[in-house]
Amino acid sequence: MTAGIVHDFRNILAIIGSSLTLAERHLGDPQRIDAFIGRAQDGVRRGTKLTAQLLTFAKEPDPVTRVRNLNECLQKLELFLNSGVGPEIRIVLQLAPDISECLLDQAQFNAAIVNLVVNARDALPKGGTIEISTERWAINTVTVDGPRPGRYVRLQVKDNGQGMSPEVARRVFDPFFTTKGERGTGLGLPQVSAFMRLINGHVSIASELEVGTTVRLFFPAVEADEDDDTSR
Ligand SMILES: Nc1ncnc2c1ncn2[C@@H]1O[C@H](COP(=O)(O)OP(=O)(O)O)[C@@H](O)[C@H]1O
Ligand SMILES: [Mg+2]
Repeated sequence: MTAGIVHDFRNILAIIGSSLTLAERHLGDPQRIDAFIGRAQDGVRRGTKLTAQLLTFAKEPDPVTRVRNLNECLQKLELFLNSGVGPEIRIVLQLAPDISECLLDQAQFNAAIVNLVVNARDALPKGGTIEISTERWAINTVTVDGPRPGRYVRLQVKDNGQGMSPEVARRVFDPFFTTKGERGTGLGLPQVSAFMRLINGHVSIASELEVGTTVRLFFPAVEADEDDDTSR
């Protein structure tokens, strides 16, 4: 994901660097100096614009927990996700309009979604579709390792990629477990799971080799006073 952005930055710095070197070489020629400095300033402007975009993506350096609408959080991320996965992969958002608000830190939420989308992208080497959906969800029964009974927003990240074997699936939340060799860190899913634990939510994964993977995040709903009867 960051590779594209780093690449852009390197190009911008190269342009600034070469413009300044050229300006230095032509100190006796004010007209050319002007042109080279203009080009360097252009580079600085482009770099500044790029950092501004990056900042809107990871605005909050310290955790700031706020009541948020997950649909809005996802819409703010959509452009960034689309540019990060490249042209072969389509990201489709399916957002239920009636979801409750949730308490969370936007930067941690962004990191979790980016981790899941990058994993989905890696599972789709030939391209494909990543579907991100939200919906109201209620859990009424107690299960051993499922979410606690209560009201949630269920967010799914679904790919139709390579999927995982049961042996891999068992270990994906272990820190540093990766099947990607040098390219992997094995820290994506542990981040997602730590974040969901922090907000008293839950994460579960369903995966089948050659069929695809669905990661389900259960975000506790901020209880409003309204009645509702949408439990299922
Ligand atoms: N959407 C997915 N499809 C197939 N395998 C996945 C998916 N998400 C995660 N995995 C598996 O889980 C492992 C751990 O994922 P993660 O913690 O994000 O670390 P990393 O992506 O650096 O390997 C991956 O190496 C991969 O084997
Ligand atoms: Mg990962």
